[in-house]
Amino acid sequence: MSAAPFPDRARIDAFDKVRGVTEYTADIKFPDLLYAMTVTARIAKGTMTGLSTDAAMRVPGVVRVLTPDDFPPLPPPAGEDGPPSPPPTLETRIAYRGQPVALVVAKTLEAAIAGAEAVRPSFADEEFSSRIDSKGAKREPTEDWTAGNAAEAMAGATTTIEASYESPTQHHNPIELLATTAVWADGRLTIYECSQGVGGTKGGVAGSLSLDPAIIDVKSATIGGAFGQKGGFGQRQTALVARAAMLTSRPVKLVLPRGQIFHVATYRPNSLHKVQLGADANGKMIAARYHAEHEQSLTGIFPPSDYHESPMRMYGIENYRGTAANIRIDRQAPGYMRAPHPQPSCFAFESAVDELAYKLRRDPVALRIANDTQVDPKTGNPLSSRFLNECLKEGAERFGWSQRTPEPGSMKAEDGTQIGWGVACGCYPSMMTPAIATLRVSANGSTRFATSGHEMGQGIRTAIAAVLLGGLDINPDRLEIAIGDTTAAPQHMTAGSWGSAGAIPVTAKAVDRMRAAVSELLAGRQIAGNLHRQLATVRRPFIEIEVSEVAPGQNADALDALRQGYAVAGPEYPEFTTMSYIAHFVEVRIEPGTRRVRMPRVVSIADCGRVISPRTAASQVRGGVVWAFSAALREATEIDRRYGGYLNNDLADYVVAVNADIGEIDVGFVDQPDPLANSMGLKGLGEVAMVGASAAIANAIFHATGKRLRELPIRVEHLL
Ligand code: MOS
Repeated sequence: MSAAPFPDRARIDAFDKVRGVTEYTADIKFPDLLYAMTVTARIAKGTMTGLSTDAAMRVPGVVRVLTPDDFPPLPPPAGEDGPPSPPPTLETRIAYRGQPVALVVAKTLEAAIAGAEAVRPSFADEEFSSRIDSKGAKREPTEDWTAGNAAEAMAGATTTIEASYESPTQHHNPIELLATTAVWADGRLTIYECSQGVGGTKGGVAGSLSLDPAIIDVKSATIGGAFGQKGGFGQRQTALVARAAMLTSRPVKLVLPRGQIFHVATYRPNSLHKVQLGADANGKMIAARYHAEHEQSLTGIFPPSDYHESPMRMYGIENYRGTAANIRIDRQAPGYMRAPHPQPSCFAFESAVDELAYKLRRDPVALRIANDTQVDPKTGNPLSSRFLNECLKEGAERFGWSQRTPEPGSMKAEDGTQIGWGVACGCYPSMMTPAIATLRVSANGSTRFATSGHEMGQGIRTAIAAVLLGGLDINPDRLEIAIGDTTAAPQHMTAGSWGSAGAIPVTAKAVDRMRAAVSELLAGRQIAGNLHRQLATVRRPFIEIEVSEVAPGQNADALDALRQGYAVAGPEYPEFTTMSYIAHFVEVRIEPGTRRVRMPRVVSIADCGRVISPRTAASQVRGGVVWAFSAALREATEIDRRYGGYLNNDLADYVVAVNADIGEIDVGFVDQPDPLANSMGLKGLGEVAMVGASAAIANAIFHATGKRLRELPIRVEHLL
């Protein structure tokens, strides 16, 4: 493995994007295209007792109204070890407000909307629980995560702190709305959809509609942000649109309005975190007890135990007892949303570490550095690489941390603006998925590389291109990188920050094999020109090679699992554990009159192993920090206790960070290859970027004001 840093390189797709040439799912057009609009349930729980479609069918342009009668019954659940259940279609049983109950298909979007408004469902409603503290909410304990004996160690601690933290319900809001276009022709179903896992979408639609997956192709070449919302085993609308295309024999498109997405898509659940930390006389953290619970739908599977996956591995705390519970209520299922568990759990845990530092009268950077580990406390296995202390030291240096006066409220600007400096860390599992790739370099000047992965905007195509163009003298203008397409290669779900660890090692292997094939072909002859020219000179139309990679500990079975859509490994590999790390240093300024909080500067230093694409990597970190600010100070979904559902289901009322809130974000990387995680030494980055930054902000607010705010979002009214 060569550890030479990869050079900075512009996004390979930037030129098309800034010219508006890039086609997203909602842009796709077909002759004869029909437009669909969903009709949703206006009760939170109960049964749809009738569905009058006559008025809708009289709207000019309406072609058809799909109802629950148009769908086959769903197969029974496969049980815990079987494949995930496909998404439900249209049903008369209502589990949450906003559940789709009918789909209107029309010749124009306007007719589809008018038709949807004219559909008259009737309901028999039942009592429901809309929130974690509603009557009827059911607590369901889940698996514990333990190491050592936390109770005994806590009893022996000389300093302890205990506090409870809360993170609200928050919704993903990628700019791109959920969109699906389905085409039914010649016995094949082709689905264009913004999906992080087209393999899962294919299996999900096949399951929902009782179809053979072999007749389904799913394509998602470019995605306008996803963050976990477009993952899973297919979205609920996909099978509805596919069925509409089959019933009408016309292409059908649905772009869900944002107000509906709030109600039907997954979201970050409201979660409660009770943390107890114990340190010995030297300031070594020796014990942690942590209970987490969150809101959950009646059938949802987003696991609360995973709140422990990062806190348990952040430091060398040998005695850890983690417990967790679902609280089941009548809403749609929560799910994975950018840094899913560690965002709230490291807000809680890294706030608690700050509280402990103050109680110990230790500098919070020094306390963290002194609690390092090279062992995974959960498994006892070594960590394959961990440079968190390097992140802390580099960040402290760049930020100027030594200039900080620790006393809360001690740093003020001349106009009375309170200044706070805070620090916090994050870690996130570094996972890997097997991948299969084909690379074809042609004498005509073109190159095609096809593999597993999805471009959500994070820059995976740019990272793949960096490896291809770094290793092969090929024409960059005629390089096609085919990903997010079930016809190009088996497609895993691209999520959990394992996209690069899936795509990059297989790309590097393809480059090596191609170089070997070319040198065999040329057999020592020196031929001028790039690879295409060389092939032309020896009259070889193209060279194509196929390669595959598996994760540490996996064998060829993993490639079969990949062909079925899912084969992720890590962070616990057989011999070691791999985590990515970050340290955030934050300055907040709080205006004396309005109490408005702004964040003029941040330094974030990440250990994500080797950096393949410096520009898009830094961009991921900036995005994570911006979102952590938004999660800490702005975003909360308001749940309607009276009717279920949400009150602020649009971007006018769901408040997010704006440009003026945030100043400079200085991003750095340790850029040390991980020796064990994969052949390229890289670790995941996208999600760890966000982890801990909300805690750093809350810690900075404490430093500015002396107010320890343990419930997000922190707003002006909490600082009065
Ligand atoms: Mo990840 S939850 O797909 O941002």
